[in-house]
Amino acid sequence: MAGHGHGDTPAFEPKNKVVKWFDSRLPIFSLMNEQAIVFPTPKNLNYMWTFGAILTFMLVTMIVSGITLAMHYAANTELAFDRVEDIMRNVNFGWLLRYIHAVGASMFFFAVYMHIARGLYYGSYKAPREVLWMLGVIILILMMATAFMGYVLPWGQMSGWGATVITNLFSAIPLVGPSITQWLWGGFAVDNATLNRFFALHYLLPFVIAGVVVLHIWALHVTGNNNPTGVSVKSSKDTVPFSPYLTIKDGFAIVVFMLLYAWFVFYVPNYLGHPDNYIQFNPLVTPAHIVPEWYLLPFYAMLRAIPDKLGGVMVMFGSLLILLVIPWLDTSRVRSARYRPMFKIAFWLFVVTCIALGWLGSQPAEGIYVILARFFTFYYFAFFLILMPVLGIIETPKPLPTSIADDVLAKSKKKGHTQPEPTAGSGGVSPEGATAAPKKD
Ligand code: HEM
Repeated sequence: MAGHGHGDTPAFEPKNKVVKWFDSRLPIFSLMNEQAIVFPTPKNLNYMWTFGAILTFMLVTMIVSGITLAMHYAANTELAFDRVEDIMRNVNFGWLLRYIHAVGASMFFFAVYMHIARGLYYGSYKAPREVLWMLGVIILILMMATAFMGYVLPWGQMSGWGATVITNLFSAIPLVGPSITQWLWGGFAVDNATLNRFFALHYLLPFVIAGVVVLHIWALHVTGNNNPTGVSVKSSKDTVPFSPYLTIKDGFAIVVFMLLYAWFVFYVPNYLGHPDNYIQFNPLVTPAHIVPEWYLLPFYAMLRAIPDKLGGVMVMFGSLLILLVIPWLDTSRVRSARYRPMFKIAFWLFVVTCIALGWLGSQPAEGIYVILARFFTFYYFAFFLILMPVLGIIETPKPLPTSIADDVLAKSKKKGHTQPEPTAGSGGVSPEGATAAPKKD
């Protein structure tokens, strides 16, 4: 409850009179204090837990750069392509804005895939975090829809042809398919009406994502974070306050992430893009290979692995929707792959599968590429539908640490650090204690 400490967190007592006055009318400072300052966080989180903060940073970056780009853009087939080039050449720092936004999409997906991989490896999707996980899957699907529609806006060859391929998928639905495709187009081909509605939705969806992110973090703060051991928090010995420990660590990770981001923006801004998108869309000239951006390639590979169009569409959408139910497919009582020797192997094979599918998605859909894509599509689904339920039953997990604090202590002992019990007034670990040779304790 606002203003009242619960458990071992002290009550929030603002010293500033104005803050106090405001907070007793709208307890927003209490809320911030509880959720971002004193919030208890497992003390053993590794850098894979910084991607949530990185993703929040990316969402804000994409919205700010996107709104600014929109001020100079025109969603009209006669103007769009030239307007984008105008932004690149004539708008002050327009080139920078556009590259921040275009490279940003790739960085956003890179971060989200790391975030998801972390969740899969440490079992963060398992009870009690199912709703948190499912909200994440919804965010992922919304991100993909947003990125797809954003890519159409520069109205290059890949924009127009990508939109044509994807909207045509819906025509595979029996009976109503062709009507749905025409309804999506707003006409009889990908044209002005399509561009206009894609722009409207591309502007809207990031705010929907932001709304779902609020629910995502709300759900996170109900259950608390998972951690690399997967063992639940048992006492205050297992946690540290969010600030300063996690704010500093997340901030540092964001800075490192920005270095990589800046390297792409300033040195190789077009490396991840397709050169054909610098040619204006021409509905009469089909490019030799129509390929999506790298982050959609694994799904594109699964779509084309299936010889039947409707089957391919179902497999592609199924590969995302299956993520919603994995909390119930995994039968293991142990969360973290650290203590699950068989699951660990299955997980790394899954990572290899996703990378292989990504590469296959960029190759022509013929011969050996299709055969390999089928093989990896099979593993993608087998990982969730066969291995998750079966391994949880047949595998013998390694012994779990009794608590997070015990695991941290055991690790630091192994490394030769001593961890003196904090005594009153010592302020925790003494500098000598941290470097001294191992002592018996
Ligand atoms: C815009 C995209 C997203 C944002 C801004 C976001 C934000 C966050 C933040 C701030 C955290 C806490 C810090 C951390 O654990 O890294 C978190 C945790 C989590 N997220 Fe996300 N997230 C996003 C997308 C996703 C997606 C796509 C999934 C899964 C499909 C997902 C699943 C999870 C899970 C399971 C946790 C709890 C992790 C744990 O405590 O072990 N998130 N998210």
